[in-house]
Amino acid sequence: MLRSSTILWGTMFGALAMVPVLLAQQPTKASTEAVLRIQTDKWIAKVSPTLYGLMTEEINHSYDGGIYAELVRNRAFQDNPNRPEHWRIVRVGNSRASMQLDKSTGPSAALSTSLKLTVEQADNADPAGIANNGYWGIPLQANTTYAGSFYAKADTDAAGPLTMSLVNNNTGTVVATASVPSLALEWKQYKVTLQTARIATSASNHLVLSITRPGTVWFSLVSLFPPTYKNTVNGNRIDLMEKLAIMRPAFLRLPGGNFLEGDYIQDRYDWEKTIGPLVDRPTHPSPWGYRSSDGLGLLEFLDWCQDLHMQPVLAVYAGYSLKHEHVNPGPDLAPYVQSALNEIQYVMGGSDTKWGGVRAKDGHPAPFPLTYVEVGNEDWFDTSASYDARFAQFFDAIKKAYPRLQVIATAPVTSRVPDVVDDHFYRTAEQFFEDTHHYDKTDRSGPKIFVGEWATREGSPTPDMGAALADAAWMTGLERNSDIVIMSSYAPLFINVNPGASQWVPDLIGYDAVHSYGSPSYYAQVMFSNHLGNQVVDSNLTGGPPLLFYSVTRDAVKRTMYLKVVNASSGSQQLDIQWTGKDQPAGTATITTLRGHSMEETNSLANPARIVPVKSVSMGISPDMHRVFPAYSIEVIEVHLR
Ligand code: AHR
Repeated sequence: MLRSSTILWGTMFGALAMVPVLLAQQPTKASTEAVLRIQTDKWIAKVSPTLYGLMTEEINHSYDGGIYAELVRNRAFQDNPNRPEHWRIVRVGNSRASMQLDKSTGPSAALSTSLKLTVEQADNADPAGIANNGYWGIPLQANTTYAGSFYAKADTDAAGPLTMSLVNNNTGTVVATASVPSLALEWKQYKVTLQTARIATSASNHLVLSITRPGTVWFSLVSLFPPTYKNTVNGNRIDLMEKLAIMRPAFLRLPGGNFLEGDYIQDRYDWEKTIGPLVDRPTHPSPWGYRSSDGLGLLEFLDWCQDLHMQPVLAVYAGYSLKHEHVNPGPDLAPYVQSALNEIQYVMGGSDTKWGGVRAKDGHPAPFPLTYVEVGNEDWFDTSASYDARFAQFFDAIKKAYPRLQVIATAPVTSRVPDVVDDHFYRTAEQFFEDTHHYDKTDRSGPKIFVGEWATREGSPTPDMGAALADAAWMTGLERNSDIVIMSSYAPLFINVNPGASQWVPDLIGYDAVHSYGSPSYYAQVMFSNHLGNQVVDSNLTGGPPLLFYSVTRDAVKRTMYLKVVNASSGSQQLDIQWTGKDQPAGTATITTLRGHSMEETNSLANPARIVPVKSVSMGISPDMHRVFPAYSIEVIEVHLR
């Protein structure tokens, strides 16, 4: 008999609101119940320690306006060659001023366009300048220090002082301000610190750069950073990083997705243009309809991995872009192969190597660990059928230079045997429910499997409870087959839920400029990833209804067993759990439950904790346990073995 203690408070994860939970006494055995036999001392397959990881790319403002903490939008005036989007002129009182893009001057070869501010009349009472409205506002909070910076040059050494201010949209109140006394006649970077006092947290703010005298000033790379995760310069947004940390992901597949490929070859993810000082990064068009600042560049991806103790899964551009452009295998492809080798060296080479040395100069002397390199993305879309030969060219070069690297193929190939193949599944809940045995019969002698993108596409903008149930059902199949499925990553990861910010729904984690929330699917990921053994345990379910799914793994070292049960039906389900074998559960069981009232129920910015995991501790475990699994529920039962 498994009986839960009566009233329990709390959730698994401290960041969430405390939720009271009344766990009813479990009913005694019913005649209609299903039987799950778990042979506690017999394991049938190994579980991959890298089973759960992350996949990201610049989509839905995942980086700019997302995890990358920069608050100024179109900071380098590259987003639109014809007009300075997200900027407007500021003319206080009697001041007279105008602004325009100037393609003739910029602070670097990479950023050769700037914004020219011409002030004909201004004084201390009536300044003039430019304003930026951020990514759907500029989020500010009380008693916080913001790091401002910009590149500028002036036509007169009397143009200063120049002031950077943060202004409330609704009241016009300046909530933080800082000045530089003068401006040089040549391009130069200026840095200021802005401090808020007591204000209400809000995104209804804008940034102003202003002067109080007539003159002409050119601007570029105007930047404002709030405090970042681990206080990293040019770093990431804290709340989103914390949400990812809770997932305990083993890897980060980077940099995408379609973002790797670009619409055209010239728009591919050209990693070399994303490293080094920000002023030397030209930015580039992403295939998702907006330009990427590349402030979150290759080294920032790797830092992100380091911060969350993940390994990078490095996808290298393989000569195919989305509008059906491809590079012919052979000599035409050779520079791209060399670029990939250079990129790998940048990641994992010693600082005495050419590209490892560049990484050291960029601030990270120690090499990053690298095991997996993915060649391209979804190359089955390449109707020229060139992938087989392109893959072979990359595979041979990578293996020659780095024999220990594991090379991932993104489409079927016959010319070489890849170490791993990347499968993608975007499906309905029903399709996942029906296919949880997808990998049960996969040939174990072939390449390993990376389910590099998958999701139940139900719910908007983030998945609903029905999607979470289907995700969880699918993950029971991944765990059971984790000897062959060595990695998996839900996609897409992020969505900025502001109007017009997204291109794809649903996505695991939603946010605006100030707040973020995890979807039910996010919590399913958290529960599965945080309760994973290293062995699949022999088990067998009889009498279970169609929408009941389970997985049993155990951690041989911790002597802990994790039973996951997904009841996706509208009724509760009794289960007789029989622990057989010499390793018997002892002590209490910890039960984590995620449940909804319907398939449609979900979380949102307004209601972020409607569906969250709730933890309880049971009393009295016996070899024959009975438990009722609630309708629409995902549960993890963790027991220790004697
Ligand atoms: O995850 C969204 C997109 O889906 C990815 O960019 C692409 O790889 C897939 O088609």
